[in-house]
Amino acid sequence: MLEHMKLIHILHCIYIGFISIDCGLRNSSSYNDSATGLWFDPDDGYVEGGMRKQISQKFMADPFNEQQKTLMSFPDGSRNCYTLPSTIGKKYLLRATFTYGNYDGLNKTLDGSLFLFGLHIGVNSWEAVNLTNWDHTSILWKELLTVAPSNSLSVCLVNLGSGIPFISSLELRPLEDTMYPFVNTSVSISLLARTRFGNVADSITRYPTDNYDRIWESDSTSYPGVILSTTNKVESLPGNNFFNIPSVIMQNALTVDMNFSRSRIIITPPEGPNIDTKNMQLLPIFHFAEINGSNPNRRFDIYSAGELLFSDFSPSRFQVDSMHQNGRFLRNPNASFLLNKTVSSTLKPLINAFESYSLVRMDNLTTDSEDVNYMKEVKNHYNLTRVNWNGDPCSPREYSWEGLTCDYSKSNQNPRIVSVNLSASGLKGGLAVSLMNMVSLVYMDLSHNNLTGAIPDYQLKSLKILNLSNNQLVGPIPDSILRRFQAGLLELRFAVLYCAIR
Ligand SMILES: *[C@@H]1O[C@H](CO)[C@@H](O)[C@H](O)[C@H]1NC(C)=O
Ligand SMILES: *[C@@H]1O[C@H](CO)[C@@H](O)[C@H](O)[C@H]1NC(C)=O
Ligand SMILES: *[C@@H]1O[C@H](CO)[C@@H](O)[C@H](O)[C@H]1NC(C)=O
Ligand SMILES: *[C@@H]1O[C@H](CO)[C@@H](O)[C@H](O)[C@H]1NC(C)=O
Ligand SMILES: *[C@@H]1O[C@H](CO)[C@@H](O)[C@H](O)[C@H]1NC(C)=O
Ligand SMILES: *[C@@H]1O[C@H](CO)[C@@H](O)[C@H](O)[C@H]1NC(C)=O
Ligand SMILES: *[C@@H]1O[C@H](CO)[C@@H](O)[C@H](O)[C@H]1NC(C)=O
Ligand SMILES: *[C@@H]1O[C@H](CO)[C@@H](O)[C@H](O)[C@H]1NC(C)=O
Ligand SMILES: *[C@@H]1O[C@H](CO)[C@@H](O)[C@H](O)[C@H]1NC(C)=O
Repeated sequence: MLEHMKLIHILHCIYIGFISIDCGLRNSSSYNDSATGLWFDPDDGYVEGGMRKQISQKFMADPFNEQQKTLMSFPDGSRNCYTLPSTIGKKYLLRATFTYGNYDGLNKTLDGSLFLFGLHIGVNSWEAVNLTNWDHTSILWKELLTVAPSNSLSVCLVNLGSGIPFISSLELRPLEDTMYPFVNTSVSISLLARTRFGNVADSITRYPTDNYDRIWESDSTSYPGVILSTTNKVESLPGNNFFNIPSVIMQNALTVDMNFSRSRIIITPPEGPNIDTKNMQLLPIFHFAEINGSNPNRRFDIYSAGELLFSDFSPSRFQVDSMHQNGRFLRNPNASFLLNKTVSSTLKPLINAFESYSLVRMDNLTTDSEDVNYMKEVKNHYNLTRVNWNGDPCSPREYSWEGLTCDYSKSNQNPRIVSVNLSASGLKGGLAVSLMNMVSLVYMDLSHNNLTGAIPDYQLKSLKILNLSNNQLVGPIPDSILRRFQAGLLELRFAVLYCAIR
């Protein structure tokens, strides 16, 4: 019976396309997380390098969730990336969590020094992970809504010289492509707050209540806030699938006691070292539904730091109204919002749920996908485990792979690889053919390796310099290469051991 349930669950998870990784898990078997009912996998196959660690024994007994017990730490390399399978152009929710747990016994988050590293989404900077003065056992989580730029999505941890990057868990959840319509290939949004209001027992609501495993935190109500709730279904109009808020979340709301002198609700998103309110561009989304049984007169104005966003708004009965300004980002350094009763309204404002995000620009271009595939082949062929051959080969510039030179000169086009230097890299075996086919490649150095066998007959495209010296390759040199050499199009360096140039 249990096996059967397990199978159903696995099938369901594959069907819904969730990827859940418990980073640093030592026993390489998946497990069913009791809190969420989701299957979590170890890192294997998603990342190279890294060291598996676990939080300090004294915190092991009572972690917030199972995933926080272990972590993957990256002492080597300036950028280390996880690569997750995705579908090009599809929209996803991506969540990363970080619990330091004093895993290295160095008390790094509380020793008074800066402890911070970078988080990249592919070739673009997402946010800094700032664990300075962070409690050992508290979870820091980061969440991004983004469009997959290719059939894989990479999440990179970047060493900024202020502490060794690490990660506790990584989760990828597909969204409907109609959802969060302002998220596109050049605009991603990073979560600041996602709150549900009203009388909710659990501090967190997520999957399976929320099909997309968004995490909703409950707002604990205190006077003059009062709760409203209904058992009627509260849904969006057919055709409105921009947010797909679960009905159960919309069935609860917060309002203000009728007898209280003030007639407003103020929403203040969280503050802290990981929220750079001064520089951020903020996108609030308010979810409203009238759930009062009678036919009430409830009207209010919605302000952001003094700016009127929506005037004289009246929520629809048992139907979701999600209010945002068509993806307009606000500069609201206080990040607070006011729902203010209008003079004519009988009832005070209410709110059911609230989300706010900050803008993450996705302006940097990835390396030409053909070049990336060639480099992947070469990497696999020679079983290369260079510490910085990780993530995108050329982008961003400061993290390009050692031994590559890229052409960034065409500003609206993807960078291309123009030279590959794998001299003295311990390469063994036959010459990898694919590399020679890269159309933009002009220089290639494979000297001082242990390459063996014959040189295959390639159709060289743009290669101008080819250095094959100091290997154990045997001739003859194929005609296609010889012809380019003889025409003066190719400089060929090849210590001729076993053959003569004809
Ligand atoms: C791995 O599995 C063994 C035996 O099943 C267990 O004793 C050990 O605690 C596990 N380690 C971790 C880190 O879960
Ligand atoms: C960590 O370092 C701070 C500052 O030195 C100290 O106050 C604190 O007790 C230390 N905590 C642990 C768990 O070692
Ligand atoms: C894009 O790349 C440039 C140059 O490598 C880098 O300085 C910049 O931070 C990157 N932009 C983003 C949004 O990551
Ligand atoms: C993404 O959305 C932004 C803001 O709505 C818009 O300015 C931009 O042109 C869009 N980009 C793409 C590639 O659609
Ligand atoms: C407001 O106060 C009046 C008089 O004290 C009381 O009868 C009424 O129940 C109160 N209304 C609410 C919503 O608390
Ligand atoms: C990181 O957090 C610390 C402590 O809150 C703060 O002093 C520091 O300015 C933050 N640094 C950055 C770059 O956000
Ligand atoms: C809120 O409404 C009250 C009374 O209706 C009004 O006096 C006040 O100016 C309003 N607040 C803002 C920020 O407009
Ligand atoms: C290629 O790499 C080798 C060894 O790392 C180095 O000696 C050589 O100068 C490099 N060639 C170029 C053109 O950078
Ligand atoms: C080639 O392989 C031999 C023996 O396997 C080794 O001694 C030699 O150092 C290698 N040469 C290079 C350049 O890697």
